[in-house]
Amino acid sequence: MGQMPLSERVAIVTGGSRGIGLATAAALHEAGAAVMICGRSVEALTEAASGLVGGAPVATAQADLQQQDEAERVVRATLDELGGLDILINNAGVGRFGPLSQLSLDDWQQTIGTNLSGVFYCCRAAVPIMRERGGGWIINVSSLAGKHPFAGGAAYCASKAGLNALTESLMQDVRRDGIRVSAVLPGSVNTRFGGHGPDPAADWKLAPEDVAQVIVDLLAHEPRSLPSRVELRPSSPPR
Ligand SMILES: NC(=O)c1ccc[n+]([C@@H]2O[C@H](COP(=O)([O-])OP(=O)(O)OC[C@H]3O[C@@H](n4cnc5c(N)ncnc54)[C@H](OP(=O)(O)O)[C@@H]3O)[C@@H](O)[C@H]2O)c1
Repeated sequence: MGQMPLSERVAIVTGGSRGIGLATAAALHEAGAAVMICGRSVEALTEAASGLVGGAPVATAQADLQQQDEAERVVRATLDELGGLDILINNAGVGRFGPLSQLSLDDWQQTIGTNLSGVFYCCRAAVPIMRERGGGWIINVSSLAGKHPFAGGAAYCASKAGLNALTESLMQDVRRDGIRVSAVLPGSVNTRFGGHGPDPAADWKLAPEDVAQVIVDLLAHEPRSLPSRVELRPSSPPR
């Protein structure tokens, strides 16, 4: 059997209220998928959903994915409101940067809690459902920072290095169940990430839509094909 069209699939995009997550939710919706977006701010979710008009249904769930029960609630709400779950895009993430001695316990816990534990909770809730449905696709939005640590990135780089390892282990755990697992590792993307931007002057950076395009392209692969890691860089960064 070939790849099921996106118009027949249901996707969760975590952190779908802005930035890369919103661009990905919009691209999936545009291609016909039913989409659940989640994030902590209800206002941001409502505004994001108001831009996803027409076509397949869109649902929102307010959730802090650092909490296991909230991650499980998002998955349950997707089944209840959209009737299934075929695609999980683990995109929600935070960036707290600074020398380790200046990182607070809260910086550390928010970063690991969202970028790593949050993904674990979502995957743990989604995998049994995908297995029962005969397959699915989990795409984790990681970062090049996970393989190229830098000064000031102790928490963030560690969270993404952990996420890269989680992704590869999970990929091997579930590939024979028809569940494909991939990591997308972008370089700099022009969003509000880390409390800055978007910066109109930083047109050398990737746009959120560039990452969304990679994700949608991945999902078109035939079931026999599993691109398990994609690195995506700005083509012409400043020297
Ligand atoms: N921008 C870059 O340069 C870049 C580069 C490589 C990788 N990435 C990765 O790409 C992903 C998206 O980043 P972005 O640039 O689009 O950032 P962004 O604009 O700050 O968006 C982050 C999204 O995640 C949500 N979120 C944050 N913490 C959450 C939590 N605990 N529970 C639920 N939702 C949460 C946010 O909504 P709320 O705040 O309302 O919760 C928002 O929707 C992140 O994983 C980031 O590490 C970004």
